[in-house]
Amino acid sequence: MKFNGLISKKFKNDSKILEAGKLIDEAIESYRDQIAAVKPPREELKQNYNETIESFNRIRGGNLYFPYLGSGWGRGPLVELLDGSIKYDMISGIGPHFWGHCHPPLMKVAFEASLSNTIMQGHLQQNYEAYLISDLLIKASQLDHCFLSSSGAMANENALKLIFQKQFPANRVLAFDRCFMGRTIALSQITDKPAYREGLPHLLHVDYLPFYRPEDPEGSIHHTLNVLHHLLARYPKQHAAMCFELIQGEAGFHAGSEEFFKAIMEVLKEQGIQIFIDEVQTFGRTPKLFAFQYYHLEEYVDVVSIGKLSQVCATLFRSHLKPKSGLLSQTFTSSTVALQTSYWIIEHLLLGQFFGEEGKICQLHRHFVKHLEHLEKKYPDKIKGPYGIGAMVIFTPLDGNAQKVAQFVQDLFHEGVISFIAGSHPTRVRFLIPAGVMTFDDIDQVMKIVEKVLKKNDCHTPD
Ligand SMILES: Cc1ncc(COP(=O)(O)O)c(C=O)c1O
Repeated sequence: MKFNGLISKKFKNDSKILEAGKLIDEAIESYRDQIAAVKPPREELKQNYNETIESFNRIRGGNLYFPYLGSGWGRGPLVELLDGSIKYDMISGIGPHFWGHCHPPLMKVAFEASLSNTIMQGHLQQNYEAYLISDLLIKASQLDHCFLSSSGAMANENALKLIFQKQFPANRVLAFDRCFMGRTIALSQITDKPAYREGLPHLLHVDYLPFYRPEDPEGSIHHTLNVLHHLLARYPKQHAAMCFELIQGEAGFHAGSEEFFKAIMEVLKEQGIQIFIDEVQTFGRTPKLFAFQYYHLEEYVDVVSIGKLSQVCATLFRSHLKPKSGLLSQTFTSSTVALQTSYWIIEHLLLGQFFGEEGKICQLHRHFVKHLEHLEKKYPDKIKGPYGIGAMVIFTPLDGNAQKVAQFVQDLFHEGVISFIAGSHPTRVRFLIPAGVMTFDDIDQVMKIVEKVLKKNDCHTPD
């Protein structure tokens, strides 16, 4: 920090604070060591736990997806629940816990951040860390501006507002079939799932294009371009932007291809339609920090949104989209702890040999695939690929029937692996792995449990 002589700095360097930090580090180490493997719930806690879950369900006005209440402790990919059970967290809170649970360096950053004057930071009053993270994101993305926000949906809303203001009076957007962008009233119009917009007013005009089909690369590009030209002719000059989810997460980890995206983006550029990439799920999970970098789309991108593993969310955009005063603001964009841990996470992703074909993310993915292919050979009628990309691992158990897969995910949970469903026809099981801390040994343990649950589903083993 180049600002010297401040009280805040003297406070953080006070011997009492430094001593407290050391004691906390020691305590973290000793309590982390008590978490070593998957464990069932403790009998004496079960009743209390179930009653608390039921009470929470009543208060929320709907059931939790899993009977999950965390205790606030864990170790790497293992997490302790309030019933005393320990489980492998293969969904990472649908994304944020990329560094697993109780990672000592991250806890240290969070401890230091908690000594700061404010809990939440907002547009009127921000601290140095808000500047630092914004600057880091600009440098990493090579875009011009960064606007922080508190959720992926808000980052997407801000992106759309920038675009519509610039492109007025164009009021339509293009998106892919099956995409997911969030659940605000506007975003639930783009998210291509009827159940998520049932009963909501129709506020946005969205036109859908078919997504990439890996089994027919050429035909897929041809077909999507035909639909695009047809829509552009039907609604001339009315499209403000196209929203891209380059790897469709909620739909079941469907990936596109560089040629496919470039073919579409060339047409959009010619037409002055803004290219908006939603990286809320993909950020930090492909073999590059941004999925748009992985697909070499740098020259096309106008706006990118990020979230989940970044803790604080952000809209990154080019200069031509700078908003007029008053368009964007939020009482708070994030907590001080989230801002400081965000910086640590992104800096360590960039420094830590995670990316590239030989980076940790690809190595972990290959190890998962090795196991999954082995299971597919052993139980050919019970498990199928494709198996996803990078830190997004997926498989289709049984026949992909929605109810059976939902039950499979609950069975996995009870055996000690937390996962989630994605997509329909087939419904699949997805892992958003805590790649920051995951080891090959963890994968071996997780896949033993997957096999156990597969076997329970009346599998006919060859042996
Ligand atoms: C691609 C994508 N966009 C946007 C969102 C919405 O993010 P949030 O839930 O933080 O609002 C999600 C969340 O799952 C997502 O996967």
